[in-house]
Order: sequence, then structure tokens, then C-alpha cells
Amino acid sequence: MSQLVLKNLRKTFEKGTPNAKVALDRLNLTVNDGDFITVLGSNGAGKSTLFNAILGKFRLDGGKIILDDEDITQMKDYRRALNIGCLYQNPLLGTAPNMTIEENLALAYTRKARRSFFAVNRRDSEYFRALLSELNLGLEDRMKTRMGLLSGGQRQAASLLMATIAEPKLLLLDEHTAALDPATAENVLHLTRTIIEKRHLTCLMITHQMQSALQMGNRTIIMDSGRVVLDLTGEERDNMTVPELLQLFQKNVGRDMASDRMLLDLQT
Ligand SMILES: Nc1ncnc2c1ncn2[C@@H]1O[C@H](COP(=O)(O)OP(=O)(O)O)[C@@H](O)[C@H]1O
Ligand SMILES: [Mg+2]
Repeated sequence: MSQLVLKNLRKTFEKGTPNAKVALDRLNLTVNDGDFITVLGSNGAGKSTLFNAILGKFRLDGGKIILDDEDITQMKDYRRALNIGCLYQNPLLGTAPNMTIEENLALAYTRKARRSFFAVNRRDSEYFRALLSELNLGLEDRMKTRMGLLSGGQRQAASLLMATIAEPKLLLLDEHTAALDPATAENVLHLTRTIIEKRHLTCLMITHQMQSALQMGNRTIIMDSGRVVLDLTGEERDNMTVPELLQLFQKNVGRDMASDRMLLDLQT
């Protein structure tokens, strides 16, 4: 069971200065067990800030975060990290580029088990090999390769494995395919879907592509000015086309998206 309840989250950066920026504005969201939610929103809408709030990267100005009935609002980020996996646009964030694929996986795997990490034992090594071969990228034969030597797509695939190997309650993906070429991005998205289904993960995925936002997962939210302005599920979402979603965005956000990145991406 993994349920995440966000209540009235508030965060203003550089409060009390001329640069004050409200990044989360009384945001409410309930993520149900097994939900795979795609998150859309223009640049600066507060999407990454929402993830950082869930991860405990800063102190909130107000609100509560409840994960599986436990109030984690005040919990330290390193403790939350045991239950929350995350992946960013930059494939090197969260991995050790000078360590091998196998060592990186072992680090991610043993962190949760609270075992100290000395060397990779044979049983773990076989387990990693099996997981890697499921990715169909040939990485199982390159377990001794340093992470930093992999291509962007291979690194994101291996990072995805690292983020999920300790079976987190929640997986947060922040534009994890945005830096990849379209074909590789498609592969990593496919892999994302497979891993999430296989491990029955609860997931939030930020994307700026409306098409994959509608195709992946079971629910789509749109953020604007630090709030969730639209929450789509069920039949309404199943029947939604990209142009309809654009129209809905315009209606709910109340401004033209012509200058927004989401629209630009749509045209490419
Ligand atoms: N550490 C920070 N310090 C100051 N302002 C920040 C910081 N992080 C985010 N912001 C501001 O908060 C707003 C939301 O940013 P962000 O969550 O990164 O948006 P998104 O991920 O949706 O593009 C933006 O105006 C951004 O400039
Ligand atoms: Mg962001």
C-alpha cells in the first residue's frame, strides 16, 4: 500500500525580498496506491518544487505530507529517500559516474537493506545481471563498465533500475527523458512503463510532452502557479486528444500557451 496525501503545501522562495516567488500555493493532491500520474505544466509552474517538497529538500512554509498514514512533513530527506526513488533529466545526478554499473546497483540495493557495502556478493551480482538483461540493452555483459562511460539512454535505463531496485513506495521522475534523442527517449519511456507495471509502483512523472502524458499512466494532472489546476482520470482521460488537452489547459490556466514550451514541443 502506498498512498501519498499532500495537504495545502505552501512554499515561497526568497520570501520577503523583491525576488519572492510563490512556487507552491496551497497545493492539494492525493496519490492513490498504484497511481501512475503524469504531470504537465509550463516552465516555472512548480513541478520540480513539488517533487523537492515530497523529497524533503527544503522546509515548507505550510502544509502536510502524509505517506502511508505517516506524517513525513518533518522527516529528514535522507530518511525519506529510503522510500522514495527519483530520477532527473541529467542522468548523472544520483549515480556515481566513476563506479561500475554493478557497484551503482549494489549501492542502491544495500542502502535500503541497511547492509554495509563492501563488495558485491555473487548472489546479488546474479540478481543484478538478471534485472539488467530484462532491459534488453546488453548491459548485463557490461556490469564492470563505469557508469560515466554509458550513453545517455543506457545511463537513464540503469538509473531507472537503481531508483526502483529497493522497491520504493513512490517513484518520482522529473523529465527523465528530456535530454535524450526522440528514439532513445521512446525506449526509456517504454522501459519506464514496464518497470512500473512489473513492480506495481506508485509513480509521478513530469513530462513536457502531452502525447506521452496521455499515453503513459492512469492519470494526468496539470500544474500552474504552484497549484494543481486539472486532474484527469478514467473515461475523460481515455477519450482525450492532445488538441483537446491544449484547449483545456488554456481554459483552466486562462492564458495563451503560444509562448509555452509545452506547445512548442507539441509541434515538433
Ligand atoms: N531554489 C530556488 N530558489 C529560488 N527560486 C526557486 C528555487 N527553485 C524554484 N524556484 C522558483 O520557483 C518557481 C517554480 O520552479 P520549478 O518548480 O522549478 O518549476 P518547474 O519545474 O515547473 O519548471 C520558479 O519561478 C522558480 O524560479
Ligand atoms: Mg522542473
